[in-house]
Amino acid sequence: MSDIRDEVRSGFTETFGYEPAGLWSAPGRVNLIGEHTDYNGGFVLPFAIDRRTVVALALRDDCLARVASSFADEVVEIDLTELSPDRLHGWAAYPLGVAWALGEHGADLSAVPGFDAYIESDVPVGSGLSSSAAIESAVAIALNDVWRLRLDRPELASVGQLAENKAVGAPTGIMDQSASLLGQKDSAVFLDCRSLESQIVDLGLTAAGLVVLVMDTGVSHAHATGGYAERRASCELGARMLGVESLREVSIDDLPRARTILDDVTFRRVRHVVTEDQRVLDTVRTLRESGPAAIGELLDASHRSMRDDFEISVPELDLAVETAQENGAIGARMTGGGFGGAAIALIRKDDLSRIQVAIEGAFAEHGFGLPDTFVVVAAQGASRES
Ligand code: GLA
Repeated sequence: MSDIRDEVRSGFTETFGYEPAGLWSAPGRVNLIGEHTDYNGGFVLPFAIDRRTVVALALRDDCLARVASSFADEVVEIDLTELSPDRLHGWAAYPLGVAWALGEHGADLSAVPGFDAYIESDVPVGSGLSSSAAIESAVAIALNDVWRLRLDRPELASVGQLAENKAVGAPTGIMDQSASLLGQKDSAVFLDCRSLESQIVDLGLTAAGLVVLVMDTGVSHAHATGGYAERRASCELGARMLGVESLREVSIDDLPRARTILDDVTFRRVRHVVTEDQRVLDTVRTLRESGPAAIGELLDASHRSMRDDFEISVPELDLAVETAQENGAIGARMTGGGFGGAAIALIRKDDLSRIQVAIEGAFAEHGFGLPDTFVVVAAQGASRES
């Protein structure tokens, strides 16, 4: 962490020729369970991870916003009063999209001062660990501070989501930004995506001798295009045909009736969401009553549902999950939007290297690229660093 902080500070100074006013950071996330439920008004249980995006920022005397980063060659510059989603492209759409979205949430972009920002991150990109929400959340808390907007964290999550939806163009839900902003050490965020009420749930991993292993397949995905939006549309169609506002209003007991109304594909999409909501509730209850060693079957069932009903897995994710399960994982599932990215396995700490070796071996045997496997720890959400 101190390394990235140093890099951000010197990146800012080299790029803009003066010292930043402060540093803010926000983490990526792993979703423990509750996939594609957020935009259906359902439940999710993600946690913030120990991989972060750090932004160094200072206010300017004029109304220019300039953003730079180690992962882009150019400095992108725009007048705050000219910000609009259709003027934002590429990586700069994330930080500048947040500035625009703050305007939609009450900031007066013709009155606030401009800013210079430099961004650095160690959240892997395209792995389903929400590198984009980490940027959005870091920039959101930074601008909320320096512009003295006093927006609370749930509202800042909505700001990040608006930037993602309109400036980046990905029709995603509220989960990632909420995890990044509300996460707490050793805990998961149990979020009701309809009321936006949240509770912090102790994961109890250390006491149980367990760790969460991320298995990044290296298969990259992008939610601004393709399958994600298609799945969202299927869920909306299902809700419409069942006469409800959102799939949150459909229970497991309603599924037999839904089967008689919906075509097979829509029915299976709906069944995933409805059963996944229940699995989130069951996971929270099980964590509280029996601890993390008891949630394995729920994780496994979640993966099967995404593979067979929601059809968002890929062979690499299935192989990672199966190999972990065959080698003693408590439970395993793909995490995030799907179509690539990462899976997670809940494993005993002592099994770590054996499972890592098994996964690498299995990938080599199938002719897949070398996966990146690493342990993540549930970490604190977005914060001011200095
Ligand atoms: C992506 C989106 C989230 C959520 C997940 C699937 O991570 O950004 O809003 O929909 O996919 O659970």
